Amino acid sequence: MSKKLPQEVISAWNDREGPLVATTVDAAGVPNSIYASIVNITADGRIAVADNYFNKTAANISHGGQAAILFITKGRKSYQIKGRFEYRSAGPLYEEMLTWADPKHPRKGVAVMNPEEAYCGSERLL
Ligand SMILES: Cc1cc2nc3c(=O)[nH]c(=O)nc-3n(C[C@H](O)[C@H](O)[C@H](O)COP(=O)(O)O)c2cc1C
Repeated sequence: MSKKLPQEVISAWNDREGPLVATTVDAAGVPNSIYASIVNITADGRIAVADNYFNKTAANISHGGQAAILFITKGRKSYQIKGRFEYRSAGPLYEEMLTWADPKHPRKGVAVMNPEEAYCGSERLL
């Protein structure tokens, strides 16, 4: 059972600016960061990223390694969530993504972050 994102992170999410940065690691621990803008909070309160163009990111998620999401608010506060991505290309989480992700992109799947830690700057929130 994954932990719940703190309300402060959800509130900040609603005030975020620009694309988020999602970082994954490969089997050797080498990090890989991408920008993502086709993103949303799922019905159960987790951060989801539509897989439209994942390449290394998809490979890294399939290894099940640790991951991080970084975003910034309009008020210039940064939020980082660490955990692991769960990937779905069918089923309820995938169907939910189809309701918010623009169909002009491929929408191959969805990566949903199961949070373990959350930070505002260096302040730990979860
Ligand atoms: C501003 C911006 C937003 C992006 N949003 C997404 C997105 O929501 N979903 C996605 O699959 N790729 C998105 N991309 C593409 C990824 O950043 C990245 O190029 C892609 O995942 C391939 O990189 P990888 O091989 O490291 O996974 C976006 C790129 C930019 C520049």
